[in-house]
Amino acid sequence: MRTASEITAMFTGPQVHRDVYTSPEIYRLEMKHLFANTWVFVGHESQTPNKGDYFTTQIGDQPVIQVRHSDGEIYVLFNRCPHKGTKIAIDREGNTGKFFRCPYHAWSFKTNGCLLAIPLKKGYEDTGFSESESAKGMTPVGAVRNYRGFVFARLAPEGIGFEDYFGDSLSSIDNMVDRSPEGRLEIAGPPLRYMHKCNWKMLVENQTDTCHPMVAHESSAGTAVNIWEEMGNPEPRPPAMEIIAPFMSPYEFFEKMGIRTWPNGHGHTGVHHSIHSDYSAIPGYFDALSEAYGEERAKSILDENRHNTVYFPNIMIKGPIQQLRNFIPLGPDKTLVESYIYRLVGAPDQLLARTAMYNRMINAPTSIVGHDDLEMYERAQEGLMSNGMEWVNVQRLRTEAEDFSQETVENGTTERQMRNQFDAWVKFMTVSMEGA
Ligand code: FES
Ligand SMILES: [Fe+2]
Repeated sequence: MRTASEITAMFTGPQVHRDVYTSPEIYRLEMKHLFANTWVFVGHESQTPNKGDYFTTQIGDQPVIQVRHSDGEIYVLFNRCPHKGTKIAIDREGNTGKFFRCPYHAWSFKTNGCLLAIPLKKGYEDTGFSESESAKGMTPVGAVRNYRGFVFARLAPEGIGFEDYFGDSLSSIDNMVDRSPEGRLEIAGPPLRYMHKCNWKMLVENQTDTCHPMVAHESSAGTAVNIWEEMGNPEPRPPAMEIIAPFMSPYEFFEKMGIRTWPNGHGHTGVHHSIHSDYSAIPGYFDALSEAYGEERAKSILDENRHNTVYFPNIMIKGPIQQLRNFIPLGPDKTLVESYIYRLVGAPDQLLARTAMYNRMINAPTSIVGHDDLEMYERAQEGLMSNGMEWVNVQRLRTEAEDFSQETVENGTTERQMRNQFDAWVKFMTVSMEGA
């Protein structure tokens, strides 16, 4: 079993050891330490709007249930019966009424997890059962926080607090939610699900990789742009072209857009402008936003065009198009990507139509862009198995003695955000390891 100092040695600053992507042992350590000590996205509150509504997901490899209790609060419980371990809920979502009932021996639990009833309960009298762990019912995760509708959980009972963990990075969630004239988002249907045969971190890194779009997406976005040129660049461009054309922007565009990093592995591309900056205005939207916030504030909300914000360890959000991607690890070389979209409550429906189009074009298994990335991840996963070299390079625009505890804004083609993620990776992997 690797020690904390061996884990620390896997990220040197300019390089990362390939085992972080390929080793089953590292993967198990990530599940045990990294995903327990960090605040991990669970779901959106609008996925469980009514009492008794639940949905099932996982935090790292831990099956959990997000459920709305009778007091209106959202709870996150381990999806495990305290009797023999049976998963309590297997549907993706549903309404369980006032209680969960285990399908094996019918123990039942309140929707906050407390044990409600056991058939033939007298069989447990004088056995000391009431002192047992099982008598407490289903186990809640260590801590839960609903931030403006987004539910995050920390599995570990003790650890870093929510605000300390996210800090000013929460401004990206704020901007996405503020774009609703009512300050509220609602989930719009189930996510697109797309299986990737690669390590989950490759997907997270790619979210702020600005040196690949004009190369890897030339086959899709480049073709679209060429065809449009052959047609004489007719205006106005339809939404599909507005979405896909910026993927072919030159390096200079990405250099100037800037990357901001925050402590604990969070960061975003698109500080000054982004591939979302030049979408056409949708009739009635600015008026609705101005009415809610005043013209000046409405303008400042819409002027913030952050591209991808990574919330370490494993989600990315896009404020300007109300999207969240969850990179769920299923193995060292297997990742399920869920791409959710949200409705801006009180905004014109055309905005949701554009958001849904973006998701289909860029992130769906049937996308014309998504497989460009998939192909690169899978080739990298295979290539890393070669013995030609042990290290992966993340050195671009690195300076000596980088300090990841400070917020920074840099050239948009830096790999600093990837290094920032590995700095956080080491920190939260080792914090609960013996000898750390
Ligand atoms: S395993 Fe759940 S009641 Fe027995
Ligand atoms: Fe890409």
